[in-house]
Amino acid sequence: MRCIECGSVANAPGADFRCAQCGDLLHIEYPSLRDRSDSLRPVWRERRSSSLAADQSGVWRFRELLPQLADLQTAITLREGNTPVYELPSCARSSGVEHLLAKHQGMNPTGSFKDTGMTVASSFARQNGFRWVACASTGNTSASMAAYAARGAMRSLVLIPEGMISWGKLSQALDYGAVTCQLRTDFDGCMHVLNDVVKRMPVYLLNSVNPYRIEGQKTAAIELLEQLDWELPDHVIVPGGNLGNSSALGKAFLELRELSLISRLPKLSIMQAEKANPLYRSVREHLGKKIVPVSADTLATAIRIGNPASWKKALRVLEATGGTVEQVSETEIAAAKAEIGADGIGCEPASAVTLAGLKKLRQQGFVRQGETVILILTGHVLKDPEYTLKFHRGDLFPGVENEQWNRGMQRLQRAPVVVDASADAVLRILEQAEKS
Ligand code: F0G
Repeated sequence: MRCIECGSVANAPGADFRCAQCGDLLHIEYPSLRDRSDSLRPVWRERRSSSLAADQSGVWRFRELLPQLADLQTAITLREGNTPVYELPSCARSSGVEHLLAKHQGMNPTGSFKDTGMTVASSFARQNGFRWVACASTGNTSASMAAYAARGAMRSLVLIPEGMISWGKLSQALDYGAVTCQLRTDFDGCMHVLNDVVKRMPVYLLNSVNPYRIEGQKTAAIELLEQLDWELPDHVIVPGGNLGNSSALGKAFLELRELSLISRLPKLSIMQAEKANPLYRSVREHLGKKIVPVSADTLATAIRIGNPASWKKALRVLEATGGTVEQVSETEIAAAKAEIGADGIGCEPASAVTLAGLKKLRQQGFVRQGETVILILTGHVLKDPEYTLKFHRGDLFPGVENEQWNRGMQRLQRAPVVVDASADAVLRILEQAEKS
């Protein structure tokens, strides 16, 4: 593996996947496949009708662009990837773009995009003989890691911030058998503790600093282009937390261009919550030269991260693709989430920053009306039902200062109504609904 910052090579990477020379993150490079790139698209397509487990995986199907396992049959797979691309007609109208699509990574086996990276990284953990895998998480990584560890007969250790992850995600980790520690700190504090743990015990770190995870997550971009018949979109918009996913998608686009499978790059833009915005601030206040950790706070708990590990990689992607970074408010996120729901799709709050961000980029003229935009929806709507219920009951942002916003949201809110058990009572409700 090569260090992305100073270029030095580490054959046996340290426990935390950082370069011994400069401390930056390592990444995986490929010998060029240029001479056989023409054959790749038909091979990838044909594998979709194969009965081999690895071919049925929407990750391992693209294995020419992944690190090679000694034996492909040992891949730990839940048939991840293979996620749909949906049109979002009313979101397109409200954001003022003609072609708006969502790649729904929440349709993965454990309900988030993490599965695409976890299948690769957990397979290498097992190949390398690890009995224990571990991660710090805002919830989705832990759910995914616990599932893949269980499938691969490994034990898993999860460090999560106490009281700051959704019940859906926490319950997944428990069901899949992880040893789960709720630490009295935030995500960044959990990461700090975990880095210490991996230095003192042979557990394999499965956070997105693990370069195998980035490799697996790359495949979402390849699959997306395949679904678009290799017609390149103008913009791809992705939420930013620890910044592994934006780095992964960007790496994929760059590699596909290197292989001449695409001739230009879509602009990849990253959206953050206003109070968890270290990348946004880095670009606006420090021209991307440094990152100043923030004390993160957002109801979109998946991206409640103040000190993102992969910020340099993400900045390289913004620069290479001509994308940008924006921040959105809590109320903008909530409204966008409800709109995605109203299009019959739904997603978790962190994913909705993409639509909220698109609206800003459209207003700024960065996205134009006729351009094709892809939102990467990263998590399933059932991940955080408490947030959704609070929104529909009008309890998400209480207080007089939010009264006006709450009134504006009534067109999207659908609080359940308690009625007598009679057809008359139900019909009266229907009549009211018809009028509204
Ligand atoms: N969306 C969701 C639903 C997530 O769970 C995460 C990250 C992100 C977006 C941000 O992706 O970190 O690659 O920039 N969740 C991690 C976790 C941190 O522990 O589950 P990123």
